Amino acid sequence: MSRIRDWLGQKGFNRAKMDWLFFRRIASKWLMIPYLSKEQRRAIVSTGDPIRYGTVFLALEEISRSPIPGSFAECGVYKGAMSKFLHGMLPDRQLFLFDTFRGFDSRDSDTHSDARFRDTSVERVLRYIGDKSNIQIRKGYFPESAAGLEAERFSLVMIDFDKYEPTLAALQFFYPRVSPGGFIFVHDYSSPESDWACSRALNAFLSGKPEKPVLVPDAWGSALFRKL
Ligand SMILES: C[S@@+](CC[C@H](N)C(=O)[O-])C[C@H]1O[C@@H](n2cnc3c(N)ncnc32)[C@H](O)[C@@H]1O
Repeated sequence: MSRIRDWLGQKGFNRAKMDWLFFRRIASKWLMIPYLSKEQRRAIVSTGDPIRYGTVFLALEEISRSPIPGSFAECGVYKGAMSKFLHGMLPDRQLFLFDTFRGFDSRDSDTHSDARFRDTSVERVLRYIGDKSNIQIRKGYFPESAAGLEAERFSLVMIDFDKYEPTLAALQFFYPRVSPGGFIFVHDYSSPESDWACSRALNAFLSGKPEKPVLVPDAWGSALFRKL
């Protein structure tokens, strides 16, 4: 198996694509939500990280059913894979998309030799999402790009900035603005990347607060908590 993976790696398959190739048949059978429609199941399983997307799907259902009031925010958009999923599942909610749309910013630590995520643009993301209603692009350096949203309320916040400073800044900005029962996801919590940047930021932020993180066994180790 590892030789096949090495060979696929040389052919340009990343980890998510390989997981999709090897595990989609199994995942699409046992994926934990028995009442899903065929379209919903496909939307979750075809992402390459069905545990992550399945968990987000359940959170969206809970937001819709309760209902929990407030907009959605995605911090770290890149090409818009998660943005399209969020908007496709609940298109009536306002969705704010925060990104430089040209990769990491040198003001954040551990970024000078990290050239990932530059190959995107606002136009590309909007084209990929398709329906632009209720989408608000916030292009620029976070937290500066949140200026003017102080009165907004949120029901779900996806934080996927990868680096310590913007992850902590996003927690500080959104936490007081999330409705009771609302969800905050932090991607890469269980990832050692940038000296465990995301877990350091979330642990520092939640210290002394009543909420505790729940760890998700998805591809990059997300964590989530619900606002009390
Ligand atoms: C891992 S990617 C996001 C992937 C996306 N959430 C997905 O699921 O497909 C991280 C993104 O965060 C953005 N980013 C990192 N630090 C930022 C900051 N301080 N301000 C704005 N965007 C930032 C990068 O430009 C990059 O596109």
